[in-house]
Amino acid sequence: MKKILVAAIALAIGASFTACANTNSPANNGGDTPAASSGSKTVGIAMPTKALERWNRDGEYLKKLFEGAGYKVELKYSDNNNDQQNNDIQSMIADKVDILLVAAIDGEALTQTLGDAKSANIPVIAYDRLIMGTDAVSYYVSFDNYTVGKLQGEFVRDQLDLDNQKGPFNIEFTAGDPADNNATFFFNGAYDALKKYIDDGKLVIPSGKKTFEQVATPSWSTDTALENMQNTLASYYAKGEQLDVALCSNDSTALGVAQAITSDYNGKNTPIVTGQDGDIANLRNIVNGIQTMTVYKNVNNLAISTLELAKAILNGETPDAGLTDRFPSKAVFDTNSYNNNVKDVPSYLLDPTIITKDNLQELVDTGLYQWDADHKYLESTASTT
Ligand code: BGC
Repeated sequence: MKKILVAAIALAIGASFTACANTNSPANNGGDTPAASSGSKTVGIAMPTKALERWNRDGEYLKKLFEGAGYKVELKYSDNNNDQQNNDIQSMIADKVDILLVAAIDGEALTQTLGDAKSANIPVIAYDRLIMGTDAVSYYVSFDNYTVGKLQGEFVRDQLDLDNQKGPFNIEFTAGDPADNNATFFFNGAYDALKKYIDDGKLVIPSGKKTFEQVATPSWSTDTALENMQNTLASYYAKGEQLDVALCSNDSTALGVAQAITSDYNGKNTPIVTGQDGDIANLRNIVNGIQTMTVYKNVNNLAISTLELAKAILNGETPDAGLTDRFPSKAVFDTNSYNNNVKDVPSYLLDPTIITKDNLQELVDTGLYQWDADHKYLESTASTT
């Protein structure tokens, strides 16, 4: 079994490199093969936690991709603990890594450490989450976070046919970790897409919780999301009131919310539940009709784009919009949307997509998922998830 998984990953990575090679212009590539330009350079990768599924996928995939391109990799997970992430990055600085990729636990908590990276001339790429309060971040690579939320809101609009139906429909929001700069983008994207309908009374929020602060979920915790939704159901839906939508910013929170709905909801309908990431348990819920959709951010493409960016930086180039020609999928180079309180961080933003039970095959096509023996559920092809 293990051999099959390894072969699947190798195949996926091989396919990725082929995709890259096809999109590289000779001028951009400088004639270097990835392995030739990487020499003995080391990439330090700091991931937040193994407790949330997506970071296992990101870490595993980045490691294999960079190693496949000839780099040495130091990969560390910091257990969602800020002190540990600072220590982990400090130890990579001490090890003299050539470049750092950091998915921050708390966007505000790395200023001192990344200052040290800068003093040691180690460039820093903020991976997926923007790092705040420092000029040491050279670039940010992520998905268009606002669009992730917007896709969730628009999905709800279309499912309920809000432009034609009278309603009113009941909705509750569950957002992410206040320490994660992405979380407000997701919430705002979703809320803005639905604001018009909330303002005109077609969508009602019985709990009255309509600000990010009121619905945030520290550490993106499944248990906290479960508990919060149980409280909301007990307080506002106890007499059989109908919940039409549980708008959740991501899959770890959607998992808790869906569990609360399954166990504690008395209404006769099945509420729409949104998510983000394509975590295995959530994909199972989607097949079983317990979650309705997830916004998928192709980690495969994010990792390849990050490799291209890191290569360019290490080759002494100054990456700009032209670099997106080397990416495997559409991306925007944005120089003024992500200000980290010190500077506008030049950002590469990839396109997220909607997954429902009707297009799960698209995930299999990424090489990161495979069908189970019955062709009903998806499993991960990565060894850590
Ligand atoms: C990521 C999401 C993820 C969340 C929790 C966010 O920063 O962008 O994809 O669901 O963290 O891990």
